[in-house]
Amino acid sequence: MKITSAKFAFSSGKLSQIPKDGLREFAFIGRSNVGKSSLINMLTGQKGLAKVSGTPGKTRLINHFLVGGGASGGGPAWYLVDLPGYGYARASKRVRAGFEGLITDYVTKAEKLWFLFVLVDVRHEPQRLDMEFMSMLGEEGVPFGVVFTKADKLGTNALAANVANYRQELLKRWEELPPIFVTSSEKRTGGDEILDFIEQHLH
Ligand code: GTP
Ligand code: MG
Repeated sequence: MKITSAKFAFSSGKLSQIPKDGLREFAFIGRSNVGKSSLINMLTGQKGLAKVSGTPGKTRLINHFLVGGGASGGGPAWYLVDLPGYGYARASKRVRAGFEGLITDYVTKAEKLWFLFVLVDVRHEPQRLDMEFMSMLGEEGVPFGVVFTKADKLGTNALAANVANYRQELLKRWEELPPIFVTSSEKRTGGDEILDFIEQHLH
């Protein structure tokens, strides 16, 4: 699947602000600065759609982007959802509690959250915060997959080794591996697999 039209729809600071229009939501989450907004721009082919920044904590609200539907046809419309990053160490406690509450609320209560992509920087060893977050998703029954980001920052061998190591770590906690995607927004790789996966979940 290719995205032919995507536009910003709305920002929400509270779950109750998200309009209930029945469209399915595919959301992207992960630590601050992991590359969520960049990935959304790659998937939609629109560079400036989601705001990207070298400063962690850029995205503070839940941003919905409306994809497809309308006159162009090509299946039902759906939302791509950009979430604030979790674990942003430099935010004040109060600010952090605020958007982490928002994230938890969204992932556990949003009725139309169809699938959650959890992004992790492929350069790093498995991090406790990400593992704990995925455990919470498991407990809450939220369907999720893992998206490795910034694959361009590693050579072929290191990339394969890190992905293999992460799979091992996941298998310590899960009987079955979640769907796994390897991406680089810089090199524009791995996006087709994510879009094909989404397409399968739209029907
Ligand atoms: P927050 O909204 O702050 O939580 O960050 P985010 O997860 O949305 O990250 P964002 O997309 O803003 O990217 C953070 C930084 O990482 C930016 O400087 C991006 O240019 C860089 N970046 C993102 N994806 C990639 C990638 O695939 N490769 C490389 N080399 N850099 C990337
Ligand atoms: Mg962002």
